[in-house]
Amino acid sequence: MSTTTQNIKIEKSGTSKIDQVDFSNLAFGSIFTDHMYICDFKNGEWQTPVIKPYGPILMDPSAKVLHYGQAVFEGMKAYKADDDKIWMFRPDENQKRINISAVRLQMPEFPKELFYEGLETLLKLDRDWIKKGEGNAMYIRPFMIASEPGMSASPATEYKFMFLLSPVQSYFKGGGGDVKVLFADKYSRSASGGVGFAKAAGNYAGQFFPTALAQEQGYQQIVWTDASTHTNLEEAGVMNVFFRVGDTLLTAPNSDRILDGITRKSILEVAKDEGIKVEVRNVTVYEIEEAAKNGTLKEMFGAGTAAVVNPITGFGFKGNDYELPKLKTDDSYAILLRKRITDIQNNKVEDKFGWRYLVKE
Ligand code: COI
Repeated sequence: MSTTTQNIKIEKSGTSKIDQVDFSNLAFGSIFTDHMYICDFKNGEWQTPVIKPYGPILMDPSAKVLHYGQAVFEGMKAYKADDDKIWMFRPDENQKRINISAVRLQMPEFPKELFYEGLETLLKLDRDWIKKGEGNAMYIRPFMIASEPGMSASPATEYKFMFLLSPVQSYFKGGGGDVKVLFADKYSRSASGGVGFAKAAGNYAGQFFPTALAQEQGYQQIVWTDASTHTNLEEAGVMNVFFRVGDTLLTAPNSDRILDGITRKSILEVAKDEGIKVEVRNVTVYEIEEAAKNGTLKEMFGAGTAAVVNPITGFGFKGNDYELPKLKTDDSYAILLRKRITDIQNNKVEDKFGWRYLVKE
């Protein structure tokens, strides 16, 4: 069946795959809902968007994204609260950030009105896929790719902007708690003047090889350091990182090498609201190593949309391994901050920061 809202052409899927899904056992990003959204950019403008059954898309093999990686994306989440309403968390931040990334990759910006209209229509269509309850969420993947055929290494004139929906639980297997990280001392994720601050697809591909080497040594993630000195701890690629030394929470300042994380900035605000002392400044590998040795390093955790707030249990640096102490639940900043943020996301508490966004029926 095909219908058209004012601006979106909707082709509904004849059957739903929902009954084949085990929602209690979801590997991150492996299951997709019945529908997806596509809007093409051609002749200098965005065309009428389409929502259609989830499935492969047709692209010319010379499409520039396949050769030059002209692609940007976002990660967002929607939640179903106890009253069955659907909420998003700070979607304005993702909407702005994908355009910041697009500009850096010489791609057209995607209009705000289309972004909200497309996403809300898709979420409502596949609303049965959004499950209530702790840890459940709908991961939303907005992305834009250069679809124009042609091998000249120049920006495309044709693009596709899409939304995919994927029901998720936790990002790391086992619900978090077992992430050990390696501090980078050889490879780099980004450099000053580069694209590290953008959610450019290539930023992720570039991490796969060093991360695979780290995984062979028993670490799940790398905490990247600045490319010139490998001294300042920057981010972990799929999450920003926080350190608790004594009772002070430390994290690196934003720069053109670091993703301006939405969970990161939310944590900074919630931590200040909790009266936690926060320092946003360069954090060196040496001070964290020293703090681990003298017992003042109490916690490390990662923060991101997919990972939420994920405790880090230990780190390795230049051949030495350090384990973090096991804190009692009520002494852990990670647990406190995760609860405050997920309670806001799931409409369980008052949203004093104005971060929740209701998907209107
Ligand atoms: C997110 O947290 O949404 C991310 O972008 C991480 C993703 C690459 C899994």
